[in-house]
Amino acid sequence: MTDRETLILGIDTSCDDTSAAVVKTGREILSNVVSSQAGIHSRFGGIVPELASRSHIVMIWPVVTEALEIAGVTPEDLSGIAVCIGPGLVGSLLVGCCFAKALSYAKGIPLLGINHIEGHIYSAFLGEQEPPYPFLSLVVSGGHTTLIRVDAFGRYREIGSTRDDAAGEAYDKVAKLLGLGYPGGPAIDSLSGEGNPEAIRLPRPLLTKGYDFSFSGLKTAVRNVTAKLRESNTLNEETVKDICASFQRAVVDVLVKKTIAALKKEGLRELTISGGVSANRELREFFKKMCQTSGITLYLPPGELCTDNAAMIAASGHLHLIKGNLAGLDLNARAYLPICSNKDESNIPGL
Ligand code: KG4
Ligand code: ZN
Repeated sequence: MTDRETLILGIDTSCDDTSAAVVKTGREILSNVVSSQAGIHSRFGGIVPELASRSHIVMIWPVVTEALEIAGVTPEDLSGIAVCIGPGLVGSLLVGCCFAKALSYAKGIPLLGINHIEGHIYSAFLGEQEPPYPFLSLVVSGGHTTLIRVDAFGRYREIGSTRDDAAGEAYDKVAKLLGLGYPGGPAIDSLSGEGNPEAIRLPRPLLTKGYDFSFSGLKTAVRNVTAKLRESNTLNEETVKDICASFQRAVVDVLVKKTIAALKKEGLRELTISGGVSANRELREFFKKMCQTSGITLYLPPGELCTDNAAMIAASGHLHLIKGNLAGLDLNARAYLPICSNKDESNIPGL
């Protein structure tokens, strides 16, 4: 049933990337175009929502056209249009949502509204091997750090999530205070390789307490260390590398340890990791080692599918289409759209 052939156009404009993709039967990527706005936002050290929405308006049509052309399909060939409706920046989401509704109405193509976090979970299905249910999913991005138990498509239970900053947000804030630009993750990742991760002692918040995360104290600790080094005139290229390496080690340490604990608690042996931070070199290496020694099977999407992309929205859209979970033209964008409304139930519309 889930293998019924479909051709889904995915659209994601949830944050600062305009993306469109065509995916066949939820697994085969025919195209995945991502137009980054990093150049627009980098001088502000973070995303400026108004500029993001305006740029989506300019880019949405060319990006969708390119995705269809690369895939060699026309709108008439599509079995569905899957669009991300939240969570995210509401002005940005509205651009994709309105565009998808217009195309769906004009061409009579079924419309599917997709939760961004669900999209990240299903990016793991675009790799070589499809994870079997049940599995644990760690979604670790600029907006989310969440451990979700996935029992079946649409059956999600939150095991833990961040109480303050998401891991990617902490990366971006630390990069900003070190003057490394936006997005901060890739810059810190590459400088970490040249620094000493043991150089600076940084806290591992909530390490042994439950399954929730907290990264804002870690960010504050980095701010204090940076201020002290600046005062003593010892903030230089070498100490910045050490700060990056020590900060990254603290983040990865917490993510790995909490995830192992959650796998044990849930009695699960399959793990997927997705979201922008899962592109991180050290995170990938540490998780691979941890999974090997603990007998856990790890499903890690390739780097380009870790960060925001529309292929993951199309992959999730395939499953919604198969279930007959279609959206109407009253589909709307929502800045706040949790995948689980509390720690025990899923909150995917229609499921
Ligand atoms: O999934 P994503 O593209 O957007 C959200 O849904 O938030 O994630 C973006 C986040 C940013 O905070 C960025 O700094 C972080 O992912 N990121 C990384 C790396 N690449 C992107 N963080 C650590 N290491 C990386 N290599
Ligand atoms: Zn994302």
